[in-house]
Amino acid sequence: MTDAPTPGGVRFDFHGARVLVTGGTRGIGLAIAGAFADHGGDVIVTGTRGDVGDYDDDLSAFDFRSLDVTSPDSITALGSSLAADGKGLSILVNNAGANMPGGASEFDPAVFEESVRINLGGSFRMCQACLPLLAAHPGNAAVLNVASMASFFGIPFIPGYGAAKAGVVQMTKSLAVAWAPQGIRVNAVAPGFVRTRMTAGFIDHEAMSRPHLARTPMARWGDPSDIAPAALFLCSAGATFITGQTLPIDGGYSIA
Ligand code: NAI
Repeated sequence: MTDAPTPGGVRFDFHGARVLVTGGTRGIGLAIAGAFADHGGDVIVTGTRGDVGDYDDDLSAFDFRSLDVTSPDSITALGSSLAADGKGLSILVNNAGANMPGGASEFDPAVFEESVRINLGGSFRMCQACLPLLAAHPGNAAVLNVASMASFFGIPFIPGYGAAKAGVVQMTKSLAVAWAPQGIRVNAVAPGFVRTRMTAGFIDHEAMSRPHLARTPMARWGDPSDIAPAALFLCSAGATFITGQTLPIDGGYSIA
């Protein structure tokens, strides 16, 4: 982590901001959490394991909390502990997500519903749990949701995930309208295919993934570091008149 600007790079200043990134222990969430910390933010990451010591990655730059977004009790407990510690919260990043939970088929209605619970219901409950904290920072408060190309395109195998991620786009608009009077902006990013644990199997299965790479104008897979700067921008003072939007970060996939 360095404070030196990179040539042509962009510096943000999140000193004084407390940021919560769900699922921030790996992948896209870890990149976003690290970027906020690099730019001065006081960052909390959540993971599904019980303790920070249960992770191999170095998470020492963050305050770790355990969270299962499918458990209303777990979400309520996190919201209460944040309220109790008195340090406030100005930015919520709803990054936690998964498809085909437990490797099961999303064409099983119970699995479909589980996927919607993880990817949509959990984000909504997190927004609601954090609302009183965010509302205490009018003008500086922001929510960033993580949508997907599955929000816009039909992707076989993951009907529940796709329905949930489409819902994330619409929820982003609804909450943006509802919470604008309280000075809370709500936006989303929609990553294209980014190499993470979630997608490694798909990307490495050349026969399945090749057509997607072929229709990507920039002709490469995304990296978590491609997503983080846009996440910072949407939560920054540079985006004070942007709300309800979903920004594709996809190497041109959605326009080709
Ligand atoms: P990942 O599998 O590396 O990370 C997912 C994170 O969500 C993990 O930290 C995991 O512990 C957490 N999580 C999963 N289920 C949870 C639950 N029930 N409660 C709390 N946390 C839970 O995957 P990746 O790719 O970093 O995904 C991050 C977000 O980006 C997800 O919302 C995903 O849907 C989204 N996304 C990913 C894309 C990709 O190509 N990798 C493309 C578009 C969106």
